[in-house]
Amino acid sequence: MEKTRSSFSGKLGFILAAAGSAVGLGNIWRFPYLAAKYGGGTFLLIYIILSVTFGFALMVAEICIGRKTGLSPIGAFGKLNKKFSFLGYLAALIPVMILPYYSVIGGWVTKYFFSYATNNIPTNSAAVTDKSSIFSDFFNNFVCDTGSPILWFLIFIGVTALIVWFGVEKGIEKVSKIMMPVLVFLSIGIAIYVLFQDGALEGAKYYLIPDFSNMTPQTLLMTVVAAMGQLFYSMSLAMGIMITYGSYMKKDVNVESAVHKIEWFDTGIAFFAGLMVIPAIFAAGGSGIEKPGPGLMFVALPSVFDSMPGGKIIGTVFFLLVFLAALTSSISLMETVVSIFQDKFKMRRGTSCAIVLGICVLLGLPSSLGFGIWDITSYIGMTFLDLFDLLSNYILMPIAALLTCILVGYIIKPKAIIDEVELSGKFKHKKLFVVMIKYIAPVFLLIILVSSVLDTFSDSFTI
Ligand code: TRP
Repeated sequence: MEKTRSSFSGKLGFILAAAGSAVGLGNIWRFPYLAAKYGGGTFLLIYIILSVTFGFALMVAEICIGRKTGLSPIGAFGKLNKKFSFLGYLAALIPVMILPYYSVIGGWVTKYFFSYATNNIPTNSAAVTDKSSIFSDFFNNFVCDTGSPILWFLIFIGVTALIVWFGVEKGIEKVSKIMMPVLVFLSIGIAIYVLFQDGALEGAKYYLIPDFSNMTPQTLLMTVVAAMGQLFYSMSLAMGIMITYGSYMKKDVNVESAVHKIEWFDTGIAFFAGLMVIPAIFAAGGSGIEKPGPGLMFVALPSVFDSMPGGKIIGTVFFLLVFLAALTSSISLMETVVSIFQDKFKMRRGTSCAIVLGICVLLGLPSSLGFGIWDITSYIGMTFLDLFDLLSNYILMPIAALLTCILVGYIIKPKAIIDEVELSGKFKHKKLFVVMIKYIAPVFLLIILVSSVLDTFSDSFTI
């Protein structure tokens, strides 16, 4: 911490930076496949409710912890309470688990961009009913291969590491801030196009209308667990990122309204991504919807682009934009870890980058190979990628979030956070905040944690 802490220029700067970290593969790739997997409308409804209550409270707490202490997570928790220093380390471990498999998916996106740009995507000219099968074959052939997905994974993580190493992320961030709105408009446009296709409305109904009729308590619980995991992931919560951002935030910026904006922006993009991907699967004939997994986006969208006029160009632009969104997120994930290594072990930036890159490559290989030669699905019911995803989103993040709630609710007390919020105006949802942080969130998190652990060991998590 030799340098004095820089700060965001103002409210807009803060919102854009936080939203830039939040919007990434979580919104465009992960949200739609989880929504498809966990009952469509039910998942969407639960997600939105959690976002405005639980997500709101936790984000306010994290940002205020950062702004109050002016430190990044490792120092911040320790400053609030000595006994909680470990929480900073725990939070810092989570990006190390996420970044490797994030980059595997980032590699797939890069591959799709290149395939579109070089016109190497299959075309479906025959009038077959199940159009998605040709694209799911293309996807499966790619991910089940050994060398090719690894190569693209290495390219993606390599580019990330280079940018972090040279510290040129500001340039990339500028580009992506201009491109991001384009991505939003493109997604909305694609979603509208999809909705006019035959069969798409069935998909829209599935996605938009909650159906609790054949829910059992167990499936409902699993949906809540999945929605909560997605909330952490998508809003970059429970891993100290928002604490770091909060530490750069000026005291006169209104925390509450900033959080609302980030929340709606992030959820809005996820919403349109779902509206683009899920109806597309129905329109294309439905293969894939019975067992949606991480490949959903890579099968649904190419079959939409295939039937669109100018689809090849739209596909190229779309995957380029997703690539950029993923890259800005992977840069900040890696930056977090690299700076911790630098600070803690007094390492040079280059060394720290190289070590983090090495760890990520090692941890990423099983996620990539897990679709091919290292397929462990028959033993534990999920791939390595799912396993890393589960460990981070359903186990480590709930633990970090639970401890944060205990720290804020019972040790430093909610008033410390409320005072921080009120430095810049009235805290409108103060009651909601207190009730969430003290009572509802901890109980919820505990249930989630217990059920995730039980499910992991009883194998029933993957349906
Ligand atoms: N929120 C990002 C997404 O939706 C992923 C992510 C999680 C992230 N934690 C992060 C990005 C920390 C940057 C920093 O894709």
